[in-house]
Amino acid sequence: MESLRPAKLGILGMGTVASGLINIMDFNKDKVHAAIKRDLTVTKVLVKNLDKKRNVSLPKEVYTQDVNEVLNGDTDIIIELIGGIHPAYEYIKAALNNKKHVVTANKAVIATHGEELKMLAEKNNVKLMYEASVGGGIPILNTIRDNLCANEFESVFGILNGTTNYILTQMTENGLDYGQAVKEAQKLGFAEADPSSDVDGDDAAFKLSILSSLAFGQRIHVSDIPKEGITKISKEDIEYAKELGYNIKLLAAGIKKENEIELSVHPAFIPASHPLSTVKNEFNAVYLKGNAVGELLLYGKGAGSLPTGSAVLDDIIHIVKNADSSADGNTAGKAAGGKIKNNLVVSNKGFKQYYINMEVIDKPGVLGSIASIFGKNKVSLASVVQRQKNGDDTVPLVFITHEAERKNIDAALKEIKDFEFVTGLASIIIVENFK
Ligand code: HSE
Repeated sequence: MESLRPAKLGILGMGTVASGLINIMDFNKDKVHAAIKRDLTVTKVLVKNLDKKRNVSLPKEVYTQDVNEVLNGDTDIIIELIGGIHPAYEYIKAALNNKKHVVTANKAVIATHGEELKMLAEKNNVKLMYEASVGGGIPILNTIRDNLCANEFESVFGILNGTTNYILTQMTENGLDYGQAVKEAQKLGFAEADPSSDVDGDDAAFKLSILSSLAFGQRIHVSDIPKEGITKISKEDIEYAKELGYNIKLLAAGIKKENEIELSVHPAFIPASHPLSTVKNEFNAVYLKGNAVGELLLYGKGAGSLPTGSAVLDDIIHIVKNADSSADGNTAGKAAGGKIKNNLVVSNKGFKQYYINMEVIDKPGVLGSIASIFGKNKVSLASVVQRQKNGDDTVPLVFITHEAERKNIDAALKEIKDFEFVTGLASIIIVENFK
């Protein structure tokens, strides 16, 4: 039998993920060939610097500084690995308009322009895939689209950011404070010199918008998702969490309730017995509940050269195998089998348990007065912890509430803050019970 010609790849960028991709294509060449019955060949690579020494075995002639040689040249599939919105978005658009399939790891572009790009791919009868944009090496998007297409999802919870998970794990296990843990993460290369997109929750919000659009068949723009990062988490919060039987994680949550979806990225107390509590350091995980499959946990490396390269290669293989089929390979926008709808509500309308840490003057009647304000605002208390004095005459007072509406919590705290014996409100953190 005559063998098929190699599939030609044009790569935009040759950084960490692209070099991982090329290395996997080398050391797993036979495995890839067996899967697609043809070879993959890299014909053009866009780089900034032609002379830079690179740890990949590509011939010198493939490198170019002219993006048109990649987008308009002898390529079948464009692999966008430059990151950031511009000019990646424009390059992806041009590639799709040129009727080339596109694989990208770019969460920012997909979370903000995914819907438009998906329509462009459909119009041009090509595929747009982005498994690597969420959870690095964890095969979550293609699993939802293919293997779980007969499920309706009740909820999707993720630890989707390795940097913040590393920082929180170090604070929990090695007693570091926030600043020390960030420095440690930077030293090991997990956190960027400017870690704000990770620690402020932006990175996780991009990923949640992509994940929940697919799982719930909704048009979810990243700006629909309320988010809070981890910069205010103190050593004290971490210690209380441990004492009360929890771990603090930056949680990306999507919960379907009848015709509404509650979405948010926020730090959360996770029960120590829950599988997501065991996800440590730079690892990521996605915990799903489908109405047929039940609970499912996917765990793995959320970043890094080989894990992310593995996800990119999986998409390339999918495209090569299915390029001629009319089956929808696009991971954008449309949920498996579902119709795109738009009926979102923001998460703080939901009922949640809360951890509230405040500082009060230790004198008779304080606890009673605070408890009565919570009660008046329909907030029921589940537990109270009072520690030793701070050195002056104040004490930290910690409450865990029963499920309550955030607006009632805020109304109660507004009144409580006015008591002269309340000297500070340190934290309010959601306690996630996965209901
Ligand atoms: N900065 C991300 C993280 C990895 O810390 O998980 C890339 O998505």
